Amino acid sequence: MIKDQLNRPLHDLRVSVIDVCNFRCKYCMPPKKNGDYKFLPKKERLAVDEFMRLIRIFSTLGVRKIRLTGGEPLLWKPLAELVNEIRGVDSIKDIAITTNGYFLAEHAEALYKAGLNRITVSLDHLNETAAKEITNKDFTVKHALDGIAAAEAAGFKNIKVNCVVQKDVNEDNILELVEHFRGSGHIMRFIEFMDVGNTNDWEKSTVLTGTEIRQMIHQKFPMHAADQNAYGEVAKRYVFDDGQGEVGIITSISQPFCHSCNRGRIASDGKFFTCLFAHKGHDLKAQLRSGKTDDEIYNSLLDIWTKRSDKYSEDRLVQKEHKEQKIEMSQIGG
Ligand code: GTP
Ligand code: 5AD
Ligand code: SF4
Ligand code: SF4
Repeated sequence: MIKDQLNRPLHDLRVSVIDVCNFRCKYCMPPKKNGDYKFLPKKERLAVDEFMRLIRIFSTLGVRKIRLTGGEPLLWKPLAELVNEIRGVDSIKDIAITTNGYFLAEHAEALYKAGLNRITVSLDHLNETAAKEITNKDFTVKHALDGIAAAEAAGFKNIKVNCVVQKDVNEDNILELVEHFRGSGHIMRFIEFMDVGNTNDWEKSTVLTGTEIRQMIHQKFPMHAADQNAYGEVAKRYVFDDGQGEVGIITSISQPFCHSCNRGRIASDGKFFTCLFAHKGHDLKAQLRSGKTDDEIYNSLLDIWTKRSDKYSEDRLVQKEHKEQKIEMSQIGG
């Protein structure tokens, strides 16, 4: 097993299949005043066979879990084909997607049949008007809930629902979200608003901490901490005392988890990032398209990972400043 400078293995690969999204969430791709975002032309994005070549090489370096993200991964036509191909790699034990849910109802069954194991849907508010304030899209809630129902009907279990919490934006909806999903078999998760990218005007004062979120939920629905499911899991788990399931809380700001960060990330243009807050990616597409052999790519990845020392969120905690422009969340999928 390969280890980085902080003794962390490479276990999860998060693959952003497309940089395009149909939402403009204000914490990720805030609407621009003049024009819209520029997205990659198709030829600059990796194709299924290129993603597969990399995934196979990564699996020989220890990767066992793949999470497909975006932008919005369901906007990428060959998603089910890619899932099906990954399914054929014996050492990959878990394939998941993170989606905004808008197109999930129409794709859930095909993805299940292709061999997708798990789905996470983003949903920040249960009220359509408030959700639109955040995502700048109509019918956010309707589509997400319909998508979750369709995914359940297709056979997916333990669907996770991600809510990015921002003070004065959606903190007042936390208990409603918990109540809605309690007892459903799905897992509601609350994420501290993070300073990802360069455009979301992040300020520490807008972060509701995991401790505040946990206390708020616990007062109404008593719960107790549970063990993590696996090394490197980002969410802290809390199980309801009355047996109605669990919630997860992701505390990248107040209690970072870099010490066990076993995740690598590939953007849709084939750049490999060793941290969500990295300012520079390693160009794997150039290697793929310039005739490098699998062994050569393997060796370059081995070199990158063994030299890795990223711990951005822990550095932030001790006010160690990073001044460089960071990669945008929509390009790297969170
Ligand atoms: P599973 O544990 O496999 O269910 O998935 P996950 O929680 O790792 O994936 P998901 O895409 O749902 O991520 C949840 C939130 O945690 C997102 O806001 C991510 O951006 C954040 N997150 C995931 N990995 C990291 C990480 O390495 N560092 C930081 N700071 N945040 C992360
Ligand atoms: N802070 C925290 N989470 C974020 N996400 C996107 N931007 C941010 C941010 N600034 C979340 C999405 C999705 C996951 C991949 O990342 O809501 O659930
Ligand atoms: Fe929102 Fe996710 Fe799209 Fe970003 S990628 S705008 S968080 S739905
Ligand atoms: Fe990993 Fe970087 Fe997130 Fe820390 S900040 S957990 S090193 S991705």
